[in-house]
Amino acid sequence: MTAGPAYRAQLALRRLLPERVKMVGRLARLAFQPPPPPAPAIPQPQLEGCVLLTDRGELLRRLPKGGRVCELGTYRGDFARLILDIVQPDELHLVDVSFALCAPDVLGHPVVRRHETTTTGYLGASAAADFDWIYVDADHGYAAVVADIAAAKGRVKPGGLLVFNDFARIVRPGFGVFGVHQAVCEFLAAEGWPVAYLSLGGEALYDIALRRPAG
Ligand SMILES: C[S@@+](CC[C@H](N)C(=O)[O-])C[C@H]1O[C@@H](n2cnc3c(N)ncnc32)[C@H](O)[C@@H]1O
Repeated sequence: MTAGPAYRAQLALRRLLPERVKMVGRLARLAFQPPPPPAPAIPQPQLEGCVLLTDRGELLRRLPKGGRVCELGTYRGDFARLILDIVQPDELHLVDVSFALCAPDVLGHPVVRRHETTTTGYLGASAAADFDWIYVDADHGYAAVVADIAAAKGRVKPGGLLVFNDFARIVRPGFGVFGVHQAVCEFLAAEGWPVAYLSLGGEALYDIALRRPAG
């Protein structure tokens, strides 16, 4: 559903529409589509080893250097640049429906591999658990994040991390509807992965890193 031509057209439209038009659309959607019920609580044992960090830059400084990394949703390449500078991965796979706005120095970096397609289309093409960590920051709608989790969880090596940007539940008019918190909490409650890091940030749009259990 999240890889078909209608969905791709919707993503292209979202990139083209001015912010004010998108805001009106979001308000209309909120009127007809009530917010979901509260997310399930994350079981306490899964939080016992979680380290609280000041921001996502600090998260990058805690991750192992090198490795095979994937970012879902790259946009201008701001975070990809940080990954390159701080983590110095052996391979950085960037996935986005369009790289038109992405910084040329990021796209031209020797370890970068560019995949201009949908997140689920890219991840679903292989079943190999071949990434040390995956950063999920594409479509923030609930159904899209559920689909990204389903496609990404088996692509992370045992002991590796699945990291989500904008771990937030937002129904604030004008800011869109973020289903990341809902989708991630449901996944945690269902599958029991421990939370390794929670990183804060000035806009309270936190990052959360889940560790795939070894074995
Ligand atoms: C929030 S931006 C990414 C920001 C970037 N990670 C950073 O922190 O600098 C989201 C990006 O995801 C892309 N995107 C949204 N839905 C997508 C999908 N289903 N498949 C691929 N890319 C998608 C958009 O085109 C946009 O460039």
